[in-house]
Amino acid sequence: MIERNDPCWCGSGKKWKKCHYPDLSTSNPLSKEYLRRYGIVLKTPEQIAKIRRACRVTAQILDALCLAAKKGVTTNELDLLSRRLHQEAGAIPADLGYGDPPYPKTICTSLNEVICHGIPDDRPLQEGDIMNIDVSSIVDDHFGDCSRMVCIGKIAEEKQRVVTVSHECLERAMAVCKPGVPIWHIGKAIEEYAATQKCSVVNQYVGHGIGVAFHEPPEIPHHYNKLDILLVPGMTFTIEPMINGGVREGLIDPIDLWTVRTKDGRPSAQWEHTLLITETGYEVLTGVLKQ
Ligand code: MF3
Ligand code: CO
Repeated sequence: MIERNDPCWCGSGKKWKKCHYPDLSTSNPLSKEYLRRYGIVLKTPEQIAKIRRACRVTAQILDALCLAAKKGVTTNELDLLSRRLHQEAGAIPADLGYGDPPYPKTICTSLNEVICHGIPDDRPLQEGDIMNIDVSSIVDDHFGDCSRMVCIGKIAEEKQRVVTVSHECLERAMAVCKPGVPIWHIGKAIEEYAATQKCSVVNQYVGHGIGVAFHEPPEIPHHYNKLDILLVPGMTFTIEPMINGGVREGLIDPIDLWTVRTKDGRPSAQWEHTLLITETGYEVLTGVLKQ
């Protein structure tokens, strides 16, 4: 467990107590309990306002990238557009330089059999491609994270199936979210539905708490699990089910150490939102408001 004098988990280099340490004098007893037991930061109204802004920017950038993703466009061109849009919005792309080895681009573009963490390159999008675009952004030190699928022209039946099923999995998972529900209900909603559609659920990667850091506790598994932490108001986390047409297993590219492909080469799809648990249910923070 992280102690008050340890370096803050946000990477600022400051001590935790001088940085993101919650003000226990003003926060409710549940906040203290969630931090102590699980390391989960229940967000204050001020933090929620900033996370909401970060998520809105993230979703708007994703929206623009999806519109730009047409046949003949390269994923490097989408990355360049993402860099420009982040700059114009006063946002920082959270992916760039993240992890080890440092992630080299500002977005993930995961095509066809790629499960996640696909790196933009010079291959033009082709008729029949499916692609996940994943954007994570930092605005005023707060984080948003979302992803969507785009389809290029006419696509094969199995690709269409994983795209549709992963979208439905995210919808069903969000629909169970409200205070008092244990985290395992999310994975149950996803895996139960995927199984009826002859699809598998990736269990190597999970959703995650987010808001004051990119990846915070808790983990949000998309597969069957026994995590009995209860959802409570003020939790902010992602749900991002990765759904495969064949086996659930993925293999990490031994050269770039990021790209994750299905073991059997069959297609994979993913949709992601950042959610806030409210008193009555949930708010999709990365939804795009219709103009
Ligand atoms: N955006 C991804 C997520 O959903 C994380 C990508 S990490 C990167 O959590 F380094 F590959 F960008
Ligand atoms: Co995420």
